Amino acid sequence: MHLSEARHAFVTGGASGLGLGIADALAARGVAVTIADINDEALAQVVASRGNSFRGVVLDTRDREGWQRAKAEAETALGPVDILISNAGIAPNGKGFAEMDPESFDRIIAINLTGIYNGIWAFAGDMARRGKGHIVCTSSQAGLVTTVTGVGAYSAAKFGVTAIGEALRAELAPQGVGVSLLFPGYVQTNLAANTQRIGGDIRQYSNFTMTSDVTPADVGEMVAEAIEQDAPYIITHKDIWPGVERRMTAIKAACDYRLEH
Ligand SMILES: NC(=O)c1ccc[n+]([C@@H]2O[C@H](COP(=O)([O-])OP(=O)(O)OC[C@H]3O[C@@H](n4cnc5c(N)ncnc54)[C@H](O)[C@@H]3O)[C@@H](O)[C@H]2O)c1
Repeated sequence: MHLSEARHAFVTGGASGLGLGIADALAARGVAVTIADINDEALAQVVASRGNSFRGVVLDTRDREGWQRAKAEAETALGPVDILISNAGIAPNGKGFAEMDPESFDRIIAINLTGIYNGIWAFAGDMARRGKGHIVCTSSQAGLVTTVTGVGAYSAAKFGVTAIGEALRAELAPQGVGVSLLFPGYVQTNLAANTQRIGGDIRQYSNFTMTSDVTPADVGEMVAEAIEQDAPYIITHKDIWPGVERRMTAIKAACDYRLEH
């Protein structure tokens, strides 16, 4: 979808980090933006700082009634949503499966996987009926590989998002609706603090050095470009492939073994 044809984007997790970077990139191209976020204070600050180009709506993406309210409010103000950025998420808890509380697993799945689905549930049908639209789902490098310890529950959610995005792309292509999957590597954002703010547990990773020169604004530009190209996958970092290749090589070896035995 060329962004000159898009009038209204709805961005979850839009009050911070990657969501805000994406919202800024879309607004810079003349798209009216609704940012939806659970953090009402950050939402108010962002809307105040952006003047008239953003509207804010408080939403917990786990809350399906809340989705209906937020959708009605946003579309009454700015018209039908052409672009959904289903992005809100929380950080990995830093724990292995054997040591994490079930509540922590459930929270990660509820926000990082079901919350992404809830946005699709709210908007995809309308886009299909109108024969127009684009959906971006935020997965992660951890939605392609599972090599870092303490990220298992997060990876389970993000692999689920990867599956949703790929399936949704095939389902909606005949209706003229595009779908892209965003796979960020590490980007400096407020993810850890925002996770703790809503009661999520988080333990520092011991085997992972988190540095990056990719910014949320860079990711916003990549997403805007990908929407225009209807790109299936958006890779933010140059060093993601070796881990993916190792996984694919191991899967291929197992396939080759079956061919031979
Ligand atoms: N930053 C990274 O390195 C990185 C890497 C890979 C994937 N991601 C993914 O990118 C997405 C955005 O994360 P970020 O790094 O920009 O973090 P961030 O904390 O800066 O932004 C996330 C926003 O989502 C909001 N949010 C959290 N739970 C919510 C809920 N239930 N309902 C509505 N809003 C909610 C937060 O309040 C926050 O404003 C997440 O899905 C995250 O998993 C981030």
